[in-house]
Amino acid sequence: METDTQSHTICEPKTIYSPDRSLSLCVGVDTDTKKVWYSLQKEGTTLIKPSLLALYSHHEENLLYTTQAPEFHESSHDETWEQPWGEQRAIRDHHTELTLTLPSHTIRFRLFNDGFGFRYEITGEGTLEIVREETEFNISTESSAWWIPALGQNHYEHLYKKSELPKMGIAHTPLTIELPHEEGFLSIHEAALYDYGAMNLVPTEKGLTSKITPLSTKIIGQVALPFSTPWRTVIVADRAIDLTTSRIMLNLNEPSKIEDTSWIEPTKFMGIWWGMFLHYFTWGSGPKHGATTANALRYINACKELGIRGLLIEGWNQGWDGDWTQNGDKMNFMLPYPDFDIHTVTSYAKSQGVEIVGHHETSGNMAHYEWQLPEAYDYYRHFGVKYIKTGYVSPRSNGKEFHSSQFGVKHYQKTVELAAERKIMLNIHEPVKGTGIERTWPNLMSREGVMGQEYEGGGAVTPEHATVLPFTRVLAGPLDYTPGLFNLSGTSRKVSSTLAKQLAFYVTLFSPVQMVADLPEHYDANRDAFKFIRDVPVNWESTQPIDGAIGEFFVVARRDRSSDDWYVGGVTDENERTVTFALDFLPEYRNYTATIYRDGDDAHWQGNRESLIIDTQNVSQNSELTLRMAAGGGFAIRFSIDGENPLPY
Ligand code: NOJ
Ligand code: CA
Repeated sequence: METDTQSHTICEPKTIYSPDRSLSLCVGVDTDTKKVWYSLQKEGTTLIKPSLLALYSHHEENLLYTTQAPEFHESSHDETWEQPWGEQRAIRDHHTELTLTLPSHTIRFRLFNDGFGFRYEITGEGTLEIVREETEFNISTESSAWWIPALGQNHYEHLYKKSELPKMGIAHTPLTIELPHEEGFLSIHEAALYDYGAMNLVPTEKGLTSKITPLSTKIIGQVALPFSTPWRTVIVADRAIDLTTSRIMLNLNEPSKIEDTSWIEPTKFMGIWWGMFLHYFTWGSGPKHGATTANALRYINACKELGIRGLLIEGWNQGWDGDWTQNGDKMNFMLPYPDFDIHTVTSYAKSQGVEIVGHHETSGNMAHYEWQLPEAYDYYRHFGVKYIKTGYVSPRSNGKEFHSSQFGVKHYQKTVELAAERKIMLNIHEPVKGTGIERTWPNLMSREGVMGQEYEGGGAVTPEHATVLPFTRVLAGPLDYTPGLFNLSGTSRKVSSTLAKQLAFYVTLFSPVQMVADLPEHYDANRDAFKFIRDVPVNWESTQPIDGAIGEFFVVARRDRSSDDWYVGGVTDENERTVTFALDFLPEYRNYTATIYRDGDDAHWQGNRESLIIDTQNVSQNSELTLRMAAGGGFAIRFSIDGENPLPY
């Protein structure tokens, strides 16, 4: 590619700068291939070499091809907007925009101080079949990546592997990359995925290129014109922890389409759930049926007693009997099992101030589910249920389509919009990955899309996993990791974590609907430790990562959205580790009580998992804390001025 031979180029390359001028993005048209290219520089160093862009229609025609000089237009934007819930209330969208316009399409770039995004906007009318997108990210092939495999069986439910870039297989995004020669970190992902397949990445000789999840017909999708692709995004960070504060993905989504968001309420919830994994209960009918009226009433009482507002009830509806993973066509979302009196359960919950979190397991049969929508939502709404967890356990939707294909993406979006019309909040398991659409549809509270704690106990989850997630999966948005397991050794499932680490998850892994996953009796047995779960909020005013290294450890501070309390969570991999950090995030001139939940001296992820020390210290902005995390352990801290330990200030 002769990007430096100007004499016969189609146009002079155009450069734009981020608002702080640390990043520059250069865009041009390649003389040989007539493809548009871009490159990225950070303070004089090229991080992404010229990378070509192409999008093919069914005639193998590159829709982004050009023999003419495009029209360039540069503009800038600076706005601060608020999220109804999130890791941070106020978000600044400060960027430089460059559009490259041609008669058939526009390519729009937005360059922020911490990265950039771009998308393809195709003009015209009627419909168009897109067969392939080749968006290159020509980063150094000496880079390494933390990745999970795409286009396989288990969607996103894998442990992350670290590989040298050329040795990586086809990977999901967010794909987090460590550049060589201490040039820092990148995370490549996408924003605003609608009506299109999800982007995956494959290594090439030059770096990476996109591979969009295909439909079973092998095309990427059929779209109505005019059409804009999702934004392809790259976060650029010197330190790995700086990846976690980027809000590019949210900034590249549209503002909320839900005008009045007052009904959207973050919450913690317990569940008739872990009991199934322990084989104490079954989802289906029979002597161990979990979702009976009596059991539900007992759990509602437990929620009230423990101070947890929500209760998830799985296995309440007919269709689970037999192999439920194959029963997508039998699931009936308007017919409870005879031993589950939905009227009694929901009215008792209401009288106790407990919110029922409904459940729809589709076993991946999206067509059968859609056939019952929106009536299945109206049915739950009739009983006052405002939260619904959905699930799509199956290697393929409808037996043949990837969940992350255009088919799946459209289905999930349909559920979000039908739910929004009915003031229902969703938590989607086996979802398509997050791309920030919760900015536009804030009733989409959370997703799984991860190897979560349901895999605990079989040795599948490593202590390292939770130290990779903040730098990878969590960059795609809220995560339902189902934290809060307390009985870590005594049951049939030995969990690869200490108790202190289970508490830390409430701070290190963000979700505005956060599970309190264990059985009430296990919480009852350790009320002192449970106090942290009771206190910890699920909606934050601000977030400040403190320290971390991908796959080793992560420490983060967050301020409660509705008080002056701060929280800090820390997690480590299989190595014991001591961290020292300043409390400079606390406000000036205020004394706080730090209640510290930390690993006991003999705690270990394979041994005394539940060994926990709880102590308090008086601290201020000038204090420093030194804390030891056991192998596979962590810590959780509440900083309060709430009057329980009042101090003069
Ligand atoms: C898989 C989900 O991730 C899990 O939370 C749920 O309990 C089962 N499916 C059954 O729906
Ligand atoms: Ca799952």
